[in-house]
Amino acid sequence: MNRRLLIFVAACVPGSSSTPFIHLLCMPTWTIISPCEKDYDHPMRMYIFRVMQTVYRMLDSSNEPSSVDEGKHIATLGYAMSQEKPGSPDLSSVVIHFRLSTQSVTQFVVTTSPLQFVDMARNICIPVPCDLAVSVIADIDEFVFARSTSFRELNNPGPVEECDLARRIWKQVQAKRYHRRLLQQEVIGDIIDIACLRTRSPRCSICDSNLIHCNSCQVASCESDNCPGSSEPPLTWCSRHEKEVLCFPCLEEWGCTGEIEKCPACKSWCCTRNMSSCNGHPIDIQLIPGLPGSKSVLPNLIVAYAKSERVHSPKRGCCMKCELPGWRNCNSTLCWSKTICPECASGGVACLCQEVWACDLCAEHSPGVVIRCPRCNRPFCSSCSYIDECQECHRAHLCYDCAEEESDVDDGVMMERPKFVASCGSCQAKVCDRCVSDSAFSCSGCSKRLCTSCRMSLCDDCRQWSGSDDEESETSGDTGALDV
Ligand SMILES: *[C@@H]1O[C@H](CO)[C@@H](O)[C@H](O)[C@H]1NC(C)=O
Ligand SMILES: *[C@@H]1O[C@H](CO)[C@@H](O)[C@H](O)[C@H]1NC(C)=O
Repeated sequence: MNRRLLIFVAACVPGSSSTPFIHLLCMPTWTIISPCEKDYDHPMRMYIFRVMQTVYRMLDSSNEPSSVDEGKHIATLGYAMSQEKPGSPDLSSVVIHFRLSTQSVTQFVVTTSPLQFVDMARNICIPVPCDLAVSVIADIDEFVFARSTSFRELNNPGPVEECDLARRIWKQVQAKRYHRRLLQQEVIGDIIDIACLRTRSPRCSICDSNLIHCNSCQVASCESDNCPGSSEPPLTWCSRHEKEVLCFPCLEEWGCTGEIEKCPACKSWCCTRNMSSCNGHPIDIQLIPGLPGSKSVLPNLIVAYAKSERVHSPKRGCCMKCELPGWRNCNSTLCWSKTICPECASGGVACLCQEVWACDLCAEHSPGVVIRCPRCNRPFCSSCSYIDECQECHRAHLCYDCAEEESDVDDGVMMERPKFVASCGSCQAKVCDRCVSDSAFSCSGCSKRLCTSCRMSLCDDCRQWSGSDDEESETSGDTGALDV
Protein backbone atom coordinates (compact mmCIF):
# COMPACT_ATOMS: atom_id res chain seq x y z
CA MET A 1 0.00 0.00 0.00
CA ASN A 2 2.74 2.38 0.95
CA ARG A 3 0.26 5.18 1.14
CA ARG A 4 1.97 8.11 2.59
CA LEU A 5 -0.61 9.41 4.88
CA LEU A 6 -0.68 12.46 6.92
CA ILE A 7 -2.47 11.31 9.93
CA PHE A 8 -2.92 12.40 13.39
CA VAL A 9 -1.97 9.92 15.96
CA ALA A 10 -2.84 10.50 19.49
CA ALA A 11 0.01 9.37 21.57
CA CYS A 12 0.48 9.74 25.24
CA VAL A 13 3.32 11.56 26.84
CA PRO A 14 5.48 9.05 28.65
CA GLY A 15 4.86 9.12 32.36
CA SER A 16 1.61 10.95 32.12
CA SER A 17 -1.15 8.55 31.38
CA SER A 18 -4.01 10.98 31.16
CA THR A 19 -3.00 13.86 28.94
CA PRO A 20 -2.67 12.80 25.34
CA PHE A 21 -1.12 15.18 22.90
CA ILE A 22 -1.22 15.27 19.13
CA HIS A 23 1.74 14.57 16.84
CA LEU A 24 1.75 15.37 13.17
CA LEU A 25 3.28 12.30 11.58
CA CYS A 26 4.24 11.32 8.11
CA MET A 27 3.59 7.65 8.05
CA PRO A 28 3.54 4.88 5.47
CA THR A 29 1.15 2.14 6.51
CA TRP A 30 0.41 -1.36 5.33
CA THR A 31 -2.62 -3.43 6.08
CA ILE A 32 -1.35 -6.67 7.56
CA ILE A 33 -4.50 -8.31 8.83
CA SER A 34 -7.96 -7.77 7.42
CA PRO A 35 -10.84 -9.94 6.31
CA CYS A 36 -9.67 -9.61 2.72
CA GLU A 37 -5.89 -9.92 2.96
CA LYS A 38 -5.72 -13.51 4.01
CA ASP A 39 -3.63 -14.70 1.14
CA TYR A 40 -0.80 -12.27 0.95
CA ASP A 41 1.15 -13.69 3.83
CA HIS A 42 3.02 -10.67 5.00
CA PRO A 43 6.00 -11.82 7.06
CA MET A 44 4.78 -9.72 9.97
CA ARG A 45 1.35 -11.31 10.00
CA MET A 46 1.91 -13.68 12.92
CA TYR A 47 3.87 -11.06 14.86
CA ILE A 48 1.12 -8.49 14.47
CA PHE A 49 -1.43 -11.12 15.37
CA ARG A 50 0.32 -11.84 18.63
CA VAL A 51 0.35 -8.16 19.51
CA MET A 52 -3.31 -7.92 18.56
CA GLN A 53 -4.20 -10.84 20.77
CA THR A 54 -2.45 -9.26 23.72
CA VAL A 55 -3.98 -5.85 23.17
CA TYR A 56 -7.51 -7.21 22.96
CA ARG A 57 -7.01 -9.60 25.86
CA MET A 58 -5.97 -6.66 28.01
CA LEU A 59 -8.35 -3.98 26.78
CA ASP A 60 -11.35 -5.61 25.11
CA SER A 61 -11.35 -9.28 25.98
CA SER A 62 -14.74 -9.99 24.41
CA ASN A 63 -13.16 -9.29 21.02
CA GLU A 64 -9.92 -11.16 21.52
CA PRO A 65 -9.14 -12.86 18.19
CA SER A 66 -8.86 -16.60 18.31
CA SER A 67 -6.95 -17.10 15.10
CA VAL A 68 -5.16 -14.99 12.56
CA ASP A 69 -7.65 -15.93 9.84
CA GLU A 70 -10.69 -15.09 11.87
CA GLY A 71 -11.41 -12.04 9.73
CA LYS A 72 -12.92 -9.94 12.49
CA HIS A 73 -10.12 -7.43 12.85
CA ILE A 74 -8.10 -5.00 10.83
CA ALA A 75 -4.52 -4.30 11.71
CA THR A 76 -2.24 -1.86 9.96
CA LEU A 77 1.44 -1.44 10.49
CA GLY A 78 3.20 1.83 9.90
CA TYR A 79 5.90 4.02 11.15
CA ALA A 80 6.55 7.62 11.97
CA MET A 81 9.62 9.54 10.92
CA SER A 82 11.22 12.38 12.75
CA GLN A 83 13.67 14.97 11.58
CA GLU A 84 16.07 15.78 14.33
CA LYS A 85 19.26 16.22 12.37
CA PRO A 86 19.80 17.27 8.78
CA GLY A 87 19.69 14.57 6.14
CA SER A 88 17.12 11.86 5.74
CA PRO A 89 14.62 11.57 8.55
CA ASP A 90 14.88 8.81 11.12
CA LEU A 91 12.40 6.20 12.11
CA SER A 92 10.92 7.53 15.29
CA SER A 93 8.24 5.02 16.13
CA VAL A 94 6.55 1.89 14.91
CA VAL A 95 2.79 2.40 14.99
CA ILE A 96 0.25 -0.39 14.83
CA HIS A 97 -3.46 0.35 14.55
CA PHE A 98 -6.18 -2.10 15.45
CA ARG A 99 -9.91 -1.99 14.93
CA LEU A 100 -12.74 -4.40 14.36
CA SER A 101 -13.66 -4.70 10.72
CA THR A 102 -17.07 -3.30 11.64
CA GLN A 103 -15.51 -0.14 13.03
CA SER A 104 -14.40 2.82 10.99
CA VAL A 105 -11.99 4.33 13.46
CA THR A 106 -8.94 2.98 15.21
CA GLN A 107 -9.69 1.29 18.49
CA PHE A 108 -6.18 0.66 19.80
CA VAL A 109 -2.75 1.93 18.86
CA VAL A 110 0.55 0.39 19.77
CA THR A 111 3.62 2.61 19.55
CA THR A 112 7.22 1.78 20.26
CA SER A 113 8.26 5.26 21.18
CA PRO A 114 6.92 5.59 23.74
CA LEU A 115 6.35 1.88 24.21
CA GLN A 116 2.67 1.61 25.02
CA PHE A 117 -0.83 0.48 24.14
CA VAL A 118 -3.30 3.31 23.63
CA ASP A 119 -7.04 2.85 23.98
CA MET A 120 -8.31 5.58 21.66
CA ALA A 121 -11.91 5.69 22.82
CA ARG A 122 -11.21 5.62 26.52
CA ASN A 123 -8.13 7.76 26.13
CA ILE A 124 -5.90 5.64 28.28
CA CYS A 125 -2.39 4.32 27.86
CA ILE A 126 -0.97 1.20 29.36
CA PRO A 127 2.56 -0.15 29.26
CA VAL A 128 3.36 -3.00 26.91
CA PRO A 129 3.94 -6.27 28.77
CA CYS A 130 7.63 -6.87 29.00
CA ASP A 131 7.73 -10.31 27.38
CA LEU A 132 5.89 -9.01 24.32
CA ALA A 133 8.14 -5.98 24.09
CA VAL A 134 11.41 -7.89 24.10
CA SER A 135 10.29 -10.52 21.63
CA VAL A 136 7.49 -9.78 19.21
CA ILE A 137 7.61 -6.00 19.29
CA ALA A 138 11.38 -6.01 18.98
CA ASP A 139 11.03 -8.18 15.88
CA ILE A 140 8.45 -5.88 14.36
CA ASP A 141 10.63 -2.91 15.15
CA GLU A 142 13.60 -4.52 13.43
CA PHE A 143 11.50 -5.27 10.40
CA VAL A 144 10.09 -1.78 10.15
CA PHE A 145 13.52 -0.27 10.52
CA ALA A 146 14.79 -2.39 7.63
CA ARG A 147 11.67 -1.66 5.60
CA SER A 148 11.96 2.08 6.19
CA THR A 149 15.51 2.15 4.85
CA SER A 150 14.58 0.32 1.66
CA PHE A 151 11.72 2.69 1.28
CA ARG A 152 12.37 3.61 -2.31
CA GLU A 153 12.78 0.12 -3.62
CA LEU A 154 9.28 0.01 -4.99
CA ASN A 155 6.95 2.84 -5.73
CA ASN A 156 3.47 2.25 -4.51
CA PRO A 157 3.62 -1.51 -4.59
CA GLY A 158 0.33 -3.36 -4.53
CA PRO A 159 -0.34 -5.62 -1.58
CA VAL A 160 1.22 -8.63 -3.29
CA GLU A 161 4.39 -6.83 -4.28
CA GLU A 162 4.56 -5.26 -0.88
CA CYS A 163 4.46 -8.68 0.73
CA ASP A 164 7.18 -9.96 -1.58
CA LEU A 165 9.34 -6.99 -0.80
CA ALA A 166 8.66 -7.39 2.91
CA ARG A 167 9.59 -11.06 2.78
CA ARG A 168 12.85 -10.23 1.01
CA ILE A 169 13.68 -7.62 3.60
CA TRP A 170 12.80 -9.90 6.48
CA LYS A 171 14.94 -12.64 4.98
CA GLN A 172 17.89 -10.29 4.91
CA VAL A 173 17.24 -9.38 8.53
CA GLN A 174 17.19 -13.06 9.39
CA ALA A 175 20.39 -13.73 7.49
CA LYS A 176 22.00 -10.95 9.48
CA ARG A 177 20.68 -12.49 12.65
CA TYR A 178 22.09 -15.81 11.61
CA HIS A 179 25.58 -14.39 11.29
CA ARG A 180 25.09 -12.56 14.57
CA ARG A 181 24.06 -15.80 16.25
CA LEU A 182 27.23 -17.49 15.04
CA LEU A 183 29.28 -14.68 16.50
CA GLN A 184 27.45 -14.81 19.81
CA GLN A 185 27.77 -18.55 20.07
CA GLU A 186 31.42 -18.14 19.15
CA VAL A 187 30.91 -20.90 16.67
CA ILE A 188 32.97 -19.06 14.15
CA GLY A 189 35.40 -17.18 16.38
CA ASP A 190 38.45 -19.23 15.51
CA ILE A 191 37.26 -20.56 12.21
CA ILE A 192 37.16 -17.43 10.18
CA ASP A 193 38.16 -13.87 10.53
CA ILE A 194 35.21 -11.99 11.89
CA ALA A 195 36.04 -9.03 9.70
CA CYS A 196 35.21 -11.25 6.74
CA LEU A 197 31.68 -11.81 7.94
CA ARG A 198 29.41 -10.84 5.13
CA THR A 199 26.56 -9.91 7.34
CA ARG A 200 23.97 -9.77 4.61
CA SER A 201 25.16 -12.73 2.65
CA PRO A 202 22.65 -15.45 1.92
CA ARG A 203 25.45 -17.97 2.46
CA CYS A 204 26.72 -19.51 5.65
CA SER A 205 29.83 -17.77 7.00
CA ILE A 206 31.24 -21.10 8.13
CA CYS A 207 30.79 -23.52 5.27
CA ASP A 208 29.51 -21.30 2.48
CA SER A 209 26.41 -23.47 2.01
CA ASN A 210 23.16 -21.69 1.26
CA LEU A 211 21.14 -20.38 4.10
CA ILE A 212 17.66 -21.77 4.28
CA HIS A 213 14.76 -19.88 5.73
CA CYS A 214 11.60 -20.91 7.46
CA ASN A 215 8.93 -20.15 4.88
CA SER A 216 6.77 -18.64 7.54
CA CYS A 217 8.89 -16.49 9.86
CA GLN A 218 12.01 -16.52 7.62
CA VAL A 219 14.35 -17.50 10.44
CA ALA A 220 17.61 -18.66 8.86
CA SER A 221 19.77 -21.70 9.29
CA CYS A 222 22.62 -23.31 7.40
CA GLU A 223 21.40 -25.75 4.81
CA SER A 224 24.06 -28.28 5.70
CA ASP A 225 23.16 -30.58 8.59
CA ASN A 226 26.79 -31.10 9.45
CA CYS A 227 27.58 -27.43 9.81
CA PRO A 228 27.73 -26.10 13.37
CA GLY A 229 25.64 -23.19 12.07
CA SER A 230 22.68 -25.46 11.38
CA SER A 231 20.06 -24.67 13.95
CA GLU A 232 19.01 -27.19 16.55
CA PRO A 233 16.28 -28.26 16.26
CA PRO A 234 16.85 -27.88 12.55
CA LEU A 235 14.44 -26.33 10.14
CA THR A 236 12.34 -29.07 8.74
CA TRP A 237 10.71 -30.17 5.57
CA CYS A 238 7.49 -31.53 6.79
CA SER A 239 6.32 -34.08 4.26
CA ARG A 240 2.85 -32.71 4.63
CA HIS A 241 4.03 -29.30 3.57
CA GLU A 242 6.42 -30.51 0.96
CA LYS A 243 7.50 -27.22 -0.45
CA GLU A 244 7.66 -25.60 2.92
CA VAL A 245 10.71 -25.35 5.04
CA LEU A 246 9.47 -24.55 8.49
CA CYS A 247 10.95 -23.95 11.90
CA PHE A 248 9.48 -25.70 14.91
CA PRO A 249 7.50 -22.78 16.32
CA CYS A 250 5.89 -22.22 12.92
CA LEU A 251 5.25 -25.92 12.39
CA GLU A 252 3.27 -25.85 15.60
CA GLU A 253 1.34 -22.90 14.38
CA TRP A 254 0.62 -24.76 11.17
CA GLY A 255 -1.01 -27.49 13.14
CA CYS A 256 1.62 -30.18 13.32
CA THR A 257 1.73 -29.58 17.03
CA GLY A 258 4.04 -31.70 19.00
CA GLU A 259 3.94 -34.55 16.57
CA ILE A 260 7.11 -34.19 14.66
CA GLU A 261 9.58 -36.95 14.16
CA LYS A 262 12.89 -37.34 12.51
CA CYS A 263 12.74 -39.43 9.36
CA PRO A 264 15.20 -42.30 9.86
CA ALA A 265 16.23 -42.09 6.23
CA CYS A 266 16.77 -38.42 5.37
CA LYS A 267 16.93 -37.13 8.96
CA SER A 268 14.56 -34.29 8.21
CA TRP A 269 11.70 -33.67 10.59
CA CYS A 270 8.20 -34.57 9.55
CA CYS A 271 4.70 -34.49 10.89
CA THR A 272 4.18 -37.84 12.54
CA ARG A 273 0.90 -38.43 10.81
CA ASN A 274 2.55 -38.14 7.42
CA MET A 275 5.23 -40.69 8.12
CA SER A 276 4.59 -44.09 6.69
CA SER A 277 3.79 -46.86 9.09
CA CYS A 278 3.10 -50.56 8.98
CA ASN A 279 -0.11 -51.56 10.69
CA GLY A 280 1.06 -55.09 11.38
CA HIS A 281 0.24 -58.19 9.38
CA PRO A 282 -3.26 -59.53 10.22
CA ILE A 283 -3.27 -62.87 11.96
CA ASP A 284 -5.61 -65.71 11.03
CA ILE A 285 -7.52 -64.29 8.11
CA GLN A 286 -10.33 -66.75 7.55
CA LEU A 287 -11.57 -66.53 3.99
CA ILE A 288 -12.44 -69.05 1.42
CA PRO A 289 -9.08 -68.91 -0.34
CA GLY A 290 -8.97 -67.38 -3.78
CA LEU A 291 -12.47 -68.30 -4.80
CA PRO A 292 -12.63 -66.80 -8.26
CA GLY A 293 -15.70 -64.86 -9.14
CA SER A 294 -16.86 -64.55 -5.58
CA LYS A 295 -18.15 -61.03 -5.31
CA SER A 296 -18.61 -61.27 -1.59
CA VAL A 297 -14.85 -61.43 -1.14
CA LEU A 298 -14.44 -57.66 -1.09
CA PRO A 299 -16.45 -56.57 1.91
CA ASN A 300 -15.42 -59.76 3.63
CA LEU A 301 -11.79 -59.01 3.06
CA ILE A 302 -12.02 -55.50 4.46
CA VAL A 303 -13.98 -56.70 7.47
CA ALA A 304 -11.59 -59.58 8.02
CA TYR A 305 -8.62 -57.23 7.97
CA ALA A 306 -10.32 -54.79 10.27
CA LYS A 307 -11.30 -57.40 12.81
CA SER A 308 -8.08 -59.27 12.83
CA GLU A 309 -5.39 -59.19 15.47
CA ARG A 310 -2.08 -57.87 14.20
CA VAL A 311 1.42 -59.25 14.65
CA HIS A 312 2.56 -55.90 15.94
CA SER A 313 1.13 -52.49 16.73
CA PRO A 314 1.72 -49.75 14.12
CA LYS A 315 5.40 -49.41 13.41
CA ARG A 316 6.89 -46.15 12.15
CA GLY A 317 8.58 -46.06 8.75
CA CYS A 318 9.94 -42.95 7.11
CA CYS A 319 8.78 -39.71 5.54
CA MET A 320 7.04 -39.78 2.20
CA LYS A 321 10.08 -38.65 0.26
CA CYS A 322 12.18 -41.56 1.43
CA GLU A 323 12.16 -45.30 1.11
CA LEU A 324 13.48 -47.67 3.72
CA PRO A 325 15.07 -50.92 2.58
CA GLY A 326 12.63 -53.80 2.60
CA TRP A 327 9.54 -51.65 3.09
CA ARG A 328 6.91 -52.23 0.43
CA ASN A 329 3.61 -50.85 -0.80
CA CYS A 330 0.99 -53.39 -1.63
CA ASN A 331 -0.65 -52.71 -4.98
CA SER A 332 -4.03 -53.73 -3.64
CA THR A 333 -6.08 -50.72 -2.60
CA LEU A 334 -7.79 -52.95 -0.07
CA CYS A 335 -4.60 -53.78 1.79
CA TRP A 336 -4.45 -53.70 5.57
CA SER A 337 -1.59 -51.19 5.52
CA LYS A 338 -0.43 -48.50 3.14
CA THR A 339 3.17 -49.42 3.75
CA ILE A 340 4.45 -52.74 4.97
CA CYS A 341 7.58 -53.34 7.03
CA PRO A 342 10.13 -55.96 5.93
CA GLU A 343 8.92 -58.60 8.41
CA CYS A 344 5.28 -58.29 7.41
CA ALA A 345 6.18 -58.07 3.73
CA SER A 346 8.07 -61.36 3.71
CA GLY A 347 5.32 -63.48 2.17
CA GLY A 348 4.47 -61.03 -0.61
CA VAL A 349 4.25 -61.79 -4.29
CA ALA A 350 5.67 -59.87 -7.23
CA CYS A 351 4.27 -60.44 -10.70
CA LEU A 352 6.45 -61.47 -13.60
CA CYS A 353 6.95 -57.98 -14.98
CA GLN A 354 7.61 -56.63 -11.46
CA GLU A 355 5.05 -53.88 -11.99
CA VAL A 356 2.91 -55.18 -9.18
CA TRP A 357 3.74 -56.40 -5.74
CA ALA A 358 1.09 -57.57 -3.32
CA CYS A 359 1.28 -58.79 0.25
CA ASP A 360 0.54 -62.47 0.71
CA LEU A 361 -3.03 -61.83 1.84
CA CYS A 362 -4.01 -59.41 -0.93
CA ALA A 363 -2.21 -61.53 -3.52
CA GLU A 364 -4.52 -64.34 -2.58
CA HIS A 365 -7.74 -62.58 -1.73
CA SER A 366 -7.84 -59.19 -3.42
CA PRO A 367 -9.27 -59.71 -6.89
CA GLY A 368 -7.42 -58.62 -10.01
CA VAL A 369 -4.18 -57.57 -8.34
CA VAL A 370 -2.15 -60.72 -8.83
CA ILE A 371 -3.48 -62.99 -11.55
CA ARG A 372 -2.30 -66.59 -11.26
CA CYS A 373 -2.30 -68.96 -14.14
CA PRO A 374 -4.63 -71.78 -13.16
CA ARG A 375 -2.12 -74.28 -14.50
CA CYS A 376 1.43 -73.17 -13.74
CA ASN A 377 0.35 -70.93 -10.87
CA ARG A 378 2.86 -68.22 -11.83
CA PRO A 379 1.81 -64.71 -10.71
CA PHE A 380 1.04 -62.10 -13.36
CA CYS A 381 -0.53 -58.68 -13.37
CA SER A 382 -2.56 -57.02 -16.06
CA SER A 383 0.51 -55.07 -17.22
CA CYS A 384 2.46 -58.31 -17.75
CA SER A 385 0.24 -58.89 -20.82
CA TYR A 386 0.80 -62.56 -20.37
CA ILE A 387 -2.55 -63.77 -19.19
CA ASP A 388 -6.20 -62.82 -19.67
CA GLU A 389 -8.73 -62.71 -16.96
CA CYS A 390 -12.33 -61.69 -16.86
CA GLN A 391 -12.49 -58.18 -15.53
CA GLU A 392 -15.77 -58.94 -13.78
CA CYS A 393 -15.39 -62.31 -12.10
CA HIS A 394 -11.58 -62.45 -12.23
CA ARG A 395 -11.48 -65.96 -13.56
CA ALA A 396 -8.17 -66.28 -15.42
CA HIS A 397 -7.41 -68.08 -18.60
CA LEU A 398 -4.16 -70.00 -18.94
CA CYS A 399 -1.06 -67.87 -19.26
CA TYR A 400 0.28 -67.58 -22.80
CA ASP A 401 2.94 -70.26 -22.20
CA CYS A 402 0.48 -72.77 -20.85
CA ALA A 403 -2.05 -71.93 -23.54
CA GLU A 404 0.52 -72.90 -26.20
CA GLU A 405 0.81 -76.36 -24.70
CA GLU A 406 -2.93 -76.59 -24.60
CA SER A 407 -3.06 -79.67 -26.79
CA ASP A 408 -1.54 -81.96 -24.24
CA VAL A 409 -3.71 -80.66 -21.41
CA ASP A 410 -6.83 -82.37 -20.35
CA ASP A 411 -6.95 -81.90 -16.62
CA GLY A 412 -9.83 -80.34 -14.71
CA VAL A 413 -8.30 -76.92 -15.23
CA MET A 414 -9.65 -76.99 -18.77
CA MET A 415 -13.19 -76.99 -17.56
CA GLU A 416 -12.68 -73.88 -15.46
CA ARG A 417 -11.35 -71.76 -18.27
CA PRO A 418 -13.36 -68.62 -19.02
CA LYS A 419 -14.32 -67.87 -22.61
CA PHE A 420 -13.86 -64.21 -23.45
CA VAL A 421 -16.77 -63.03 -25.48
CA ALA A 422 -16.73 -59.28 -25.00
CA SER A 423 -14.55 -56.49 -23.76
CA CYS A 424 -14.99 -53.26 -21.90
CA GLY A 425 -15.91 -50.48 -24.32
CA SER A 426 -13.55 -48.15 -22.55
CA CYS A 427 -10.43 -49.99 -21.33
CA GLN A 428 -10.81 -53.10 -23.50
CA ALA A 429 -10.56 -55.43 -20.51
CA LYS A 430 -12.06 -58.79 -21.34
CA VAL A 431 -15.37 -60.11 -20.13
CA CYS A 432 -16.21 -63.79 -19.99
CA ASP A 433 -19.23 -65.68 -21.22
CA ARG A 434 -20.69 -65.95 -17.74
CA CYS A 435 -20.57 -62.26 -16.98
CA VAL A 436 -21.51 -60.90 -20.38
CA SER A 437 -25.22 -61.20 -19.85
CA ASP A 438 -25.21 -59.10 -16.71
CA SER A 439 -27.08 -55.98 -17.79
CA ALA A 440 -25.60 -53.84 -15.04
CA PHE A 441 -22.35 -53.80 -16.97
CA SER A 442 -23.24 -51.12 -19.49
CA CYS A 443 -23.08 -47.36 -19.41
CA SER A 444 -26.39 -45.99 -18.27
CA GLY A 445 -26.09 -43.16 -20.82
CA CYS A 446 -25.06 -44.76 -24.10
CA SER A 447 -25.35 -48.40 -23.01
CA LYS A 448 -21.76 -49.10 -23.99
CA ARG A 449 -20.41 -52.12 -22.13
CA LEU A 450 -18.14 -51.05 -19.28
CA CYS A 451 -16.05 -53.04 -16.85
CA THR A 452 -16.22 -52.55 -13.11
CA SER A 453 -13.49 -49.95 -12.87
CA CYS A 454 -14.60 -47.96 -15.92
CA ARG A 455 -18.11 -47.87 -14.55
CA MET A 456 -16.71 -45.79 -11.72
CA SER A 457 -15.91 -42.83 -13.95
CA LEU A 458 -17.44 -40.76 -16.72
CA CYS A 459 -18.16 -42.71 -19.87
CA ASP A 460 -15.76 -41.48 -22.58
CA ASP A 461 -18.41 -41.41 -25.27
CA CYS A 462 -21.48 -39.87 -23.76
CA ARG A 463 -19.72 -38.08 -20.88
CA GLN A 464 -22.42 -39.31 -18.57
CA TRP A 465 -21.72 -40.19 -15.04
CA SER A 466 -22.20 -43.89 -15.01
CA GLY A 467 -20.93 -44.56 -11.50
CA SER A 468 -22.68 -47.66 -10.34
CA ASP A 469 -23.90 -48.10 -6.84
CA ASP A 470 -23.65 -51.83 -6.70
CA GLU A 471 -21.97 -53.61 -3.86
CA GLU A 472 -18.66 -53.79 -5.66
CA SER A 473 -17.89 -50.11 -5.74
CA GLU A 474 -14.45 -50.56 -4.18
CA THR A 475 -12.47 -52.13 -6.92
CA SER A 476 -10.03 -49.51 -8.00
CA GLY A 477 -7.32 -52.11 -7.43
CA ASP A 478 -8.05 -53.73 -10.72
CA THR A 479 -7.61 -50.83 -13.04
CA GLY A 480 -5.12 -52.15 -15.55
CA ALA A 481 -6.33 -52.40 -19.09
CA LEU A 482 -5.63 -55.69 -20.75
CA ASP A 483 -3.58 -55.49 -23.85
CA VAL A 484 -5.60 -57.56 -26.22
C1 LIG B 1 -0.63 -35.69 5.76
O1 LIG B 1 -1.61 -36.11 6.70
C2 LIG B 1 -2.82 -35.41 6.61
C3 LIG B 1 -3.69 -35.88 7.74
O2 LIG B 1 -3.68 -37.25 7.89
C4 LIG B 1 -3.44 -35.64 5.25
O3 LIG B 1 -4.67 -34.96 5.16
C5 LIG B 1 -2.49 -35.16 4.19
O4 LIG B 1 -3.02 -35.42 2.92
C6 LIG B 1 -1.15 -35.84 4.33
N1 LIG B 1 -0.20 -35.26 3.40
C7 LIG B 1 0.23 -35.92 2.35
C8 LIG B 1 1.23 -35.19 1.50
O5 LIG B 1 -0.15 -37.04 2.09
C1 LIG C 1 1.97 -50.74 -8.06
O1 LIG C 1 2.52 -49.91 -7.07
C2 LIG C 1 3.69 -49.21 -7.50
C3 LIG C 1 4.24 -48.45 -6.32
O2 LIG C 1 3.45 -48.47 -5.22
C4 LIG C 1 3.33 -48.30 -8.64
O3 LIG C 1 4.50 -47.62 -9.08
C5 LIG C 1 2.78 -49.14 -9.77
O4 LIG C 1 2.39 -48.30 -10.83
C6 LIG C 1 1.58 -49.95 -9.29
N1 LIG C 1 1.17 -50.80 -10.41
C7 LIG C 1 -0.07 -50.88 -10.83
C8 LIG C 1 -0.31 -51.76 -12.01
O5 LIG C 1 -0.97 -50.25 -10.31
